Amino acid sequence: MNHFLDIHKTDPADLRQIISEAKRIKIARKGLPKGTPDAEQPLANHMVALIFEKPSTRTRVSFDVGVRQMGGQTMVLSGSDMQLGHGETIADTARVLSRYVDMIMIRTFEESTLLEMAEHATVPVINGLTNRTHPCQIMADVLTYEEHHGSIKGKKVVWLGDGNNVVASLIHAAGQFGFDITVSAPETLQPEAGFVAWAREKGVNVSLESNPQKAVEGADLVVTDTWVSMHDSQTTKERRHNQLRGYQVDDALMAQAKNDALFMHCLPAHRGEEVTSSVMDGPQSVIWDEAENRLHAQKAVMRWCLGK
Ligand code: CP
Ligand code: NVA
Repeated sequence: MNHFLDIHKTDPADLRQIISEAKRIKIARKGLPKGTPDAEQPLANHMVALIFEKPSTRTRVSFDVGVRQMGGQTMVLSGSDMQLGHGETIADTARVLSRYVDMIMIRTFEESTLLEMAEHATVPVINGLTNRTHPCQIMADVLTYEEHHGSIKGKKVVWLGDGNNVVASLIHAAGQFGFDITVSAPETLQPEAGFVAWAREKGVNVSLESNPQKAVEGADLVVTDTWVSMHDSQTTKERRHNQLRGYQVDDALMAQAKNDALFMHCLPAHRGEEVTSSVMDGPQSVIWDEAENRLHAQKAVMRWCLGK
């Protein structure tokens, strides 16, 4: 069994295999009503716990649907309703859940919660987002890029805005899939230096360019995310907005990228803040494919975790 904890902790050949498998899984379902079971049922007789300590629409629904289409069953658990939220240790929770379920997906705050869960669980644990990373999202993003424009290797990906958990996984993906990444963020909202150093050691170009116009020049893919993440204190909101105003992705900024550059956003988006509606709904945007691809990518991740 394998845990899927982070992109930089997963072997590049396995990541590549997961993406190929996701492409195959997606094609196999083309045109089927959503409730149709997959032809292959690798999760038959499997029970999967989906734990959420933070809100979610896409992660929750795509994992739930994915497990069911593959023949398994799910239980969606909110952290606050579990004893986990009332003093039971993560380690004990992991040991107990492992006696009931075949796999655990957890969305949580501290990365240490995820790691402790994985250390003590005897079933695979999947990272459904922590304050530091969001690997399932970026697997879907790689899938989305490649189904539109072919291999992502050697391409220029540009991130604008907050140096948050999503860009952290994007930087990890740059190192593992071999693409260049430029991050355009104000000085105080840069991604963790350790993530950047890790990707540079892998031999990819990681540029930090605070000028957004310069950053997007020649971009194959432009990506942004909310300026205030779920773990950020709401009291920082006004300051964040003032700092990040110049990093909004609008038509003028997209025009600096390559003519056929794609636009992605993990969603939920705040239209009129980090991105304009005209970019979200424009011809370069692939955000709905990106959201759909969570389903296909995560099915491939789950199969890999279970060795199926
Ligand atoms: N992109 C993403 O993870 O969305 P949710 O927060 O809705 O799960
Ligand atoms: N950076 C965002 C991503 C949401 C999917 C957050 O953590 O809130």
